[in-house]
Amino acid sequence: MDKIKIAIQKSGRLSDDSLKLIKECGIKFNNGMGKLKAVADNFPLEFLFLRDDDIPGYVEDGVAHLGIVGENVLVEKEKDVDNVKLLGFSKCRLSIGVDRNWDYKGVQELAGKSIATSYPKILKGFLDKNKVNAEIHEISGSVEIAPSIGLADAVCDIVSSGSTLLSNGLKETEVIMKSQAVLIANKSLNAEQQDILDKLIFRINAVQEGKK
Ligand code: PRP
Ligand code: ZN
Ligand code: MG
Repeated sequence: MDKIKIAIQKSGRLSDDSLKLIKECGIKFNNGMGKLKAVADNFPLEFLFLRDDDIPGYVEDGVAHLGIVGENVLVEKEKDVDNVKLLGFSKCRLSIGVDRNWDYKGVQELAGKSIATSYPKILKGFLDKNKVNAEIHEISGSVEIAPSIGLADAVCDIVSSGSTLLSNGLKETEVIMKSQAVLIANKSLNAEQQDILDKLIFRINAVQEGKK
């Protein structure tokens, strides 16, 4: 039997939860520290450990057949992939954060300000919907530090526990979208690959049923 490849976040909020799900599905593999690839022992699956932001593109191209990403990344990247299943973990929100001393009263206060984010498309949609004209400053990481170093007036980033915002002297003022992990698939799987995916989905459903 052929193997299919699943892309999982290398390190970050999704990684541990994704690997936990694989384990709960009864799939065994050995991932040596720092390795970017691994093969399951008892299921036709190969793992690729990648940056989450790159996963939708790799799945669209077929470099990976499957992937686990946050809905936030999936929406932002606008790639043509199948949205197979919500996974119910790694829940978070994409929010606006501002200096905690800013007496923030509403979205209109963002007019004329600059906002640092790794999610420029989603942020633009939010600003347009609210008819607010603000400058979007795209950066790929450490977004929350931007206000304190004078790079931007506000941030738009993922909030989970809120500790990153807190430790950077920021507060959450607007929730733009809620997000959780989602299983995605390449749109042109062959019959054998689809069969493996179906078996994986069957196991995921069993795990989810067991938690109800
Ligand atoms: C997000 C965000 C913060 C952190 C917030 O990163 O960029 O770094 O999570 O979580 P907290 O509210 O619990 O402190 P993410 O895990 O999405 O990884 P990435 O930005 O490296 O892709
Ligand atoms: Zn990321
Ligand atoms: Mg981050």
